Amino acid sequence: MPLPGGHEDFSRRIFHCGRTQRHITIPEHTAYSGINNTPAEANVTQFHGKTKICYGRYALETLEELPTSSAFVVTDPFMVKSGFAEQVTSHLERRSLPHATFAEVEPDPSLETVMRGTLEFLRSGADLIVALGGGSAIDTAKAISFFAHKAAPELPRPLLVAIPTTSGTGSEVTAISVVTDKAKGVKIPLNDELLIPDVAILDARFTRTVPPHVTAATGMDVLTHALEAYTSRNNNAFTDILAVQAIRYVFSFLLKAYQQMEDMEAREMMLLGSCMAGMAFNNSGLGLTHSMAHALGGQFHIPHGLANAVLLPYAIRFNSFDAGVRYRELARIIGLPHANVEEGTSSLIGAVQGLNEAMGIPAHIRNLKVDEAAFRAALDSMAAHALEDMCTQSNPRRPSLTDIRMLLEQAW
Ligand SMILES: NC(=O)c1ccc[n+]([C@@H]2O[C@H](COP(=O)([O-])OP(=O)(O)OC[C@H]3O[C@@H](n4cnc5c(N)ncnc54)[C@H](O)[C@@H]3O)[C@@H](O)[C@H]2O)c1
Ligand SMILES: [Fe+2]
Repeated sequence: MPLPGGHEDFSRRIFHCGRTQRHITIPEHTAYSGINNTPAEANVTQFHGKTKICYGRYALETLEELPTSSAFVVTDPFMVKSGFAEQVTSHLERRSLPHATFAEVEPDPSLETVMRGTLEFLRSGADLIVALGGGSAIDTAKAISFFAHKAAPELPRPLLVAIPTTSGTGSEVTAISVVTDKAKGVKIPLNDELLIPDVAILDARFTRTVPPHVTAATGMDVLTHALEAYTSRNNNAFTDILAVQAIRYVFSFLLKAYQQMEDMEAREMMLLGSCMAGMAFNNSGLGLTHSMAHALGGQFHIPHGLANAVLLPYAIRFNSFDAGVRYRELARIIGLPHANVEEGTSSLIGAVQGLNEAMGIPAHIRNLKVDEAAFRAALDSMAAHALEDMCTQSNPRRPSLTDIRMLLEQAW
């Protein structure tokens, strides 16, 4: 999840798409704090769960049953090189479905890539978009579908299918797509219900090749999504149950997936957990760990999951005055000592720290190759960004600027 700010220029930007000079405007409101956070819905508790989820060994066969006539596959170069893209297109070929592939997605996809993809998609005339890859490929496909609809509203919306190959973002079920303005170095979070995929296909075999350090960081992102959804101001009975199950999966399977790449049970459970946590936070919003991770990651280019992993124990301690009862409940659920709120909170923090340590994730920002002088110079602006971040709105405790500054200093 990305940094706030820097949206204004994009909201006015017009993109010329295709020979017919179609115009695409980037929407004004892009930040994210969960579907239950809009004032009009304040008195009605809602849970959105639009995406059809297909999982397991034969889940890919779903591609052979979709009511579509031609496909546009959005992916990255690794997926083509590894043969994963071909695994997907072979199912399209089995039903003689014409298809084109756009394999230009880069990590943290740029607006330019999204616009090139949108143009190619509109030219292809396809009525199915298949996203194959990590959060970057899925976010690109979601943005392509979104901008194509804005550019050509008279065309029927394409069916959007997401096949995640990492267990982390939950993008296959969320209303968010993060695109980057490379020139300004700003991440732009789009947030719109139109971005939610119609179908998610969860086949853990695609995640088997994820290297251990990426498994660790993306897995800790899942844990942070679930913990922050569970303690969000906008949680509800449905987000709770998904968040709790995702937390159970992380504590039971993340270390196994990290230590043993080929442990397919662990891979599968982490993929399901990632999706469940995505469904939860898509409705509840997130919290201060994400706000600070966006600020820190944006400033020092630290992978998102890694930044969350380091900051999470500090945020739990800070939130414990308001969310301690919830933390104690989680400690009970995962079988940790929880005689009282203090013990439950401390046990949970200890479990997060233990998981980090076992996966080689440091306890302090200073061990992330961040220069101390640069960190101290950026403290005020990072704290200000984190305070403004939409995720802070759903945090259980309302932090001040000084609180956030203090937390970042503690984490140093
Ligand atoms: N939409 C959302 O809800 C949401 C939430 C959080 C983050 N994001 C965004 O998602 C992106 C990060 O996504 P990500 O962490 O999944 O990584 P990613 O998609 O950027 O992929 C990172 C690298 O891992 C490689 N990779 C992916 N799957 C692999 C596999 N199975 N085996 C080996 N290598 C593999 C990719 O080729 C790429 O080089 C960022 O742009 C972030 O801003 C989106
Ligand atoms: Fe995240």
